[in-house]
Amino acid sequence: MKFKEKYGQYALITGASSGIGEEFAKQLAQKGLNLVLIARRKDKLEKLSNELETKHKIRAIPLAVDLLSENFLDEIKKVTDPLEIGLLVSNAGMMYIGNYMENSLENDLKMIDLNIKVPAILTHHFVQLMVDRKRGGIIYTASMLGYMGTPFASTYAGTKAHEIVKGEGLAHELKPKGIDVLVLNPGLTETEMTSKNDFSGMPMKLMKPDIVAKTAIDALGKKVLVTPGFMNNMMNWVSKRLMSRKMNTKMFGMFMKKTF
Ligand SMILES: NC(=O)c1ccc[n+]([C@@H]2O[C@H](COP(=O)([O-])OP(=O)(O)OC[C@H]3O[C@@H](n4cnc5c(N)ncnc54)[C@H](OP(=O)(O)O)[C@@H]3O)[C@@H](O)[C@H]2O)c1
Repeated sequence: MKFKEKYGQYALITGASSGIGEEFAKQLAQKGLNLVLIARRKDKLEKLSNELETKHKIRAIPLAVDLLSENFLDEIKKVTDPLEIGLLVSNAGMMYIGNYMENSLENDLKMIDLNIKVPAILTHHFVQLMVDRKRGGIIYTASMLGYMGTPFASTYAGTKAHEIVKGEGLAHELKPKGIDVLVLNPGLTETEMTSKNDFSGMPMKLMKPDIVAKTAIDALGKKVLVTPGFMNNMMNWVSKRLMSRKMNTKMFGMFMKKTF
């Protein structure tokens, strides 16, 4: 089945106003999918939607929603109920790097909500509709940091570990129902999220978000977990085959401490 037939007619992308999500929007539009683009910054979403509609002759709907607001699913459903969402790209996320005790509990809980609760609510709603149609796909943007305990980003890494393990389980469960699940685990990527820290001491370079999104789109339906970039994959291999979990955590703690 062709990409558009399997994952069309619409892809819903969260965190589409910048970074990896914006690249998902551009590349899925190029594949002929219509889009529902979600983030808080309306102006950015409108500009992107206009550009993509003109360039690719698709329909792109900008939907400014704060995913941390209580009734965010109702806001989304008002737009998506008449549409066929064949691909859910659950990509919006929040990161905190720094000393654990310097992050407020409020911010810690917001990160847990945006990175875990929001994808759970979206998955629960859209997966049922995909099961009814016997086709569809879900992409979760997690992180390489989800593979290990990560000092100075402990909660963030924990939220991404949740997405990895959940995605692996769901992929197996939903495959017989015609739905592909992919967990994208990027390493450092050049986006707004990484713009405030200094990652020059890290062993891997920051990747461009277009390559990260392309890696995921190419892997959808073929893999369950994917990490973009040769160096990141080398790092995953060394971490898994040659180092203990404790060694990985110690090493990443050393790297992360220098970034803030
Ligand atoms: N950059 C990296 O090195 C890296 C590495 C591994 C994984 N990731 C993951 O990649 C995903 C995308 O991040 P990015 O790197 O592309 O960063 P980014 O450019 O900062 O994108 C984050 C997106 O999430 C949206 N967002 C944040 N809070 C929101 C809220 N409350 N409601 C609705 N939308 C919200 C932002 O839009 P608005 O501000 O307009 O709402 C923005 O579109 C995240 O899940 C992140 O954890 C990033």
